[in-house]
Amino acid sequence: MEKTLGIAVIGMGQRGMNCHARNFVEYGAGRVNMVGVCDSNPDNLAEARRRYPDARASADYREAIDQPEVDVAVVASPNFLHAEQATFALDRGKHTFCEKPLATTFPGCRSILDAARRSGKVLEVGFVMRYAALFAKLKELIAAGEIGEPLLFDWRVHYRGGLHYFRTWHRLKRYSGGLNVEKACHDYDVLNWCFGQLPKRVVMWSGLNKFLPEKARGRECAACPDPCEDYLLIARTVWTRNTPDGLADDGTASSHCFYSSTKDVGDHYVGLMEYESGLRGTVQLCFYPSSPYGRQFQFIGSRGEILGNAHDRIIELHRRAKGSRPVKFDLSAESQGKHYGGDQRQVEAFLRAVQENRESLATGLDGLRSVAVGLAMEKSIEEDRPVRLDEIMNPS
Ligand SMILES: NC(=O)c1ccc[n+]([C@@H]2O[C@H](COP(=O)([O-])OP(=O)(O)OC[C@H]3O[C@@H](n4cnc5c(N)ncnc54)[C@H](O)[C@@H]3O)[C@@H](O)[C@H]2O)c1
Repeated sequence: MEKTLGIAVIGMGQRGMNCHARNFVEYGAGRVNMVGVCDSNPDNLAEARRRYPDARASADYREAIDQPEVDVAVVASPNFLHAEQATFALDRGKHTFCEKPLATTFPGCRSILDAARRSGKVLEVGFVMRYAALFAKLKELIAAGEIGEPLLFDWRVHYRGGLHYFRTWHRLKRYSGGLNVEKACHDYDVLNWCFGQLPKRVVMWSGLNKFLPEKARGRECAACPDPCEDYLLIARTVWTRNTPDGLADDGTASSHCFYSSTKDVGDHYVGLMEYESGLRGTVQLCFYPSSPYGRQFQFIGSRGEILGNAHDRIIELHRRAKGSRPVKFDLSAESQGKHYGGDQRQVEAFLRAVQENRESLATGLDGLRSVAVGLAMEKSIEEDRPVRLDEIMNPS
């Protein structure tokens, strides 16, 4: 008979409130009780209290986590808080689901991994893409040798929803770690997972060529006399509500203009990756696309090639053999729901792993490795040079 689990959710913003709190209760199918909620923003805490009146509500994460009824802590606060909060949760003996990125620094990741080792509890990182049918198929095809030895790849993240990063805490590296850590950690994790190796060195260029202050029409979208097409694209979303108060150096307003906001992240990124095996690849991140295509990828191997398009949930396999016809995998039926269906599968898999006290599919070590690649990319941009992964993972 499975135990009923008590959970505490730290950070009741977009992800914590609208996804995890709801999903853990729903997908826990009567075996998950919400016993703690925490947010430093009084409005969000009040909303969490209204939705979960039986849970202990606190602005202090320690109070929400450190209750005997809490078995699982879910850390869904801004990235720079993950190291402290997840380390605390594990040290209090709680299984921990930590949102991606695991942390914004390499020592922060190490601190969480050390705490997981000390506690013996399950640590899962929010890599939902591993649980999505499309990326699972990609991994399966590469692992099965369908393209032979991977030789060259191209990976593009064109994220229209990323507009909101330029008004929230994501736009300042000290809170997000930079967009290579915040957003592309998902992508570096999938690449690490598919290839079973980390790049040995990377190089990247980035800049702002759309969200420039001189193109601003005002400072607040809500009061803008002449709303731009970008605001109109996302104006009705709730993204504007949950900006953590007191975080930004300019007193972040919830409808801050993408253009005039203070920011130190780029709106586009172009990078190269090189592996010990000779594999090389290109990555592109763009946060101002007009098309909704999202992620697209191409892998060329010694015996075949894979082309993929996450928007249409399609993967095409071409084998390098005379007369061979392309095989098309349409994964749309298995990709219903948020994050290509990954959200639900991840919560269910994590809860099973907790019940059995074993690791699940997205471990702390996976979290650390993807952050390492993201940090190497950020360092390359900052120092305008190629960066070896060793510089991040084994600094002298
Ligand atoms: N796995 C995914 O695909 C995915 C998707 C979206 C977000 N995320 C991650 O989830 C996390 C939260 O992102 P979000 O979009 O929900 O951001 P958000 O700003 O909407 O929510 C963060 C919440 O944390 C609260 N907060 C700030 N400081 C706090 C503190 N000291 N203690 C407690 N709460 C505090 C804020 O008030 C806010 O309500 C981030 O790490 C993000 O990268 C993951």
